[in-house]
Amino acid sequence: MSGIVYLDNSSTTRPFPEVVATVAEALQSGYGNPSSLHRLGEEVSKRIESARKNVASLLGAAPEEVFFTSGGTESNNWALFGTYRFFGGKRPHIITTAVEHPSVLETLSALKREGAHVTVVKVDRSGFVSPEEIKGHIRDDTALVSVMYVQNEIGTVEPIKEIGAIIAELGPRRPRFHVDAVQGFARLPIDVKEWNADLVSVSAHKIHGPKGVGALYVRKGVEIRPLIYGGGQEGGMRSGTENVPGILGFGKACEIWLSDRTTTGPESANGLMERLLKLRRKLIDGVRRIFPDAILHGPEDGNVAPYIVHFAFPGFRGETILHALEARGVFVSTGSACSSHHPKPSPVILALGRSEAEALSSIRFSMSRFTTDEEIDRAIEALEDALRELLPWRQPAERGRR
Ligand SMILES: Cc1ncc(COP(=O)(O)O)c(C=O)c1O
Repeated sequence: MSGIVYLDNSSTTRPFPEVVATVAEALQSGYGNPSSLHRLGEEVSKRIESARKNVASLLGAAPEEVFFTSGGTESNNWALFGTYRFFGGKRPHIITTAVEHPSVLETLSALKREGAHVTVVKVDRSGFVSPEEIKGHIRDDTALVSVMYVQNEIGTVEPIKEIGAIIAELGPRRPRFHVDAVQGFARLPIDVKEWNADLVSVSAHKIHGPKGVGALYVRKGVEIRPLIYGGGQEGGMRSGTENVPGILGFGKACEIWLSDRTTTGPESANGLMERLLKLRRKLIDGVRRIFPDAILHGPEDGNVAPYIVHFAFPGFRGETILHALEARGVFVSTGSACSSHHPKPSPVILALGRSEAEALSSIRFSMSRFTTDEEIDRAIEALEDALRELLPWRQPAERGRR
């Protein structure tokens, strides 16, 4: 058997070959500045609009509601800063959840220093936030409710439609609703209208597109302040010469995901997710067979992303397992990628009520449309072998708060 088994797709994905070709072509010949008045600029500008249309289609939005950014982090920063600054201190209250990505939680820490009041709503043991609890925190001065679609570490799919419906019921003075949809975009259905969402963040590199490009959906009629000022690109909402290769690559990735939706059978969008769901089940059963003490973080089934599996291996260190798996050609992660370099327990796992030791013993396996049945078999085999090797160093597991 050869080749690596890449199971770190929630950190980033391998670009589609068509995306690589599009990016290369854009660098080689599509180098005109979209703002230029000559033919080279105009051609590129048209291609950007076609990419925008593809992103919009996957969101159920109109193209003029989609603004390109440098990725999910910028989109989240912009949604939060842009809303807070629009209200100019008159509506300083923002509600979010304990399991958001650092690009939301750290932005809110920065906003607190500017005077924002932030309510962080707890989640249950599977990572779900309660729409009723969110409702209970909404006040007259609440500017924004920010909740993620798919939790990046544990795969929990949050009740976005229900939260959107509760907010919509509050009428014209309702808070805005922002959804960080980075980990669900393209793979799971999104309809921004059905969600009653005002702002939605997405990123290209999680869907086999290039890194450093993403978008923010801003519902027509919703005003936010720009985050980046300058030459007035993106309708004055996001200045800076466009990342043309990135945007065109993003558009190409979206085109491929869109084509699944018009196909039937195993290659269709539903067929793909059903296949991943079976692989997820196989992986969960395989882990439990070789290590019955393993603790699954997040929901076992139901409202969970079919491509994320996160386990604690009490008594082991996640980092040690990661490297033992790497030595066997299997690539995974501990907690979220951004915090992987620090041996700090993941705040998301702690928010589920797990102990620090359990959080530090955790490994995330994340699949993509390229993941095969054989790769899952290889990952289970490698895990069995790795744990057998590490067994002499296993620490007595502290009693976790189950
Ligand atoms: C849920 C979520 N939001 C935002 C981001 C940030 O996206 P980007 O890497 O494009 O900045 C990530 C990336 O891991 C994520 O998982």
